[in-house]
Amino acid sequence: METLRDVVVLVHLGGFAVLFGGWVVEALGKRTINRAMHWGLAIAAVAGFALAAPWGDADLNYMKIGIKLVILLVIGALLGIGAGRQRKSADGTPPAVIFWLIGLLTLANAAIAVIW
Ligand code: HEM
Repeated sequence: METLRDVVVLVHLGGFAVLFGGWVVEALGKRTINRAMHWGLAIAAVAGFALAAPWGDADLNYMKIGIKLVILLVIGALLGIGAGRQRKSADGTPPAVIFWLIGLLTLANAAIAVIW
């Protein structure tokens, strides 16, 4: 059971890596929203929900999990709105504030997970 939970944590970290890695590549490049970011968020979300269920012998901090969930939903909304806006924009990029908030909030969620 513990090993299985560790595997789900690994998948969760993989989702974070895909989301944040996809964002860093864009931060150093065209600053658009790409598919890796959507996939990474979906992977982190599914694995995060699995980890939020009481199993194994982890003691869960539901305050922390709730805040992470709210931040995840905000990131998801920003990805959706940003992707829509970039499709309609002349230069093919989303509003800069949306782009930077996605990276900042992703890092904030990782910080909450690790430091809190
Ligand atoms: C973009 C969104 C997210 C990011 C970047 C993220 C990041 C992380 C990271 C880096 C860890 C590892 C912390 C550690 O092992 O010390 C972690 C653990 C965890 N995350 Fe997330 N997370 C996200 C979303 C979520 C969501 C939505 C949930 C639940 C609904 C969640 C639930 C958890 C739980 C329960 C753990 C602890 C696993 C354990 O027992 O060690 N996460 N998260």
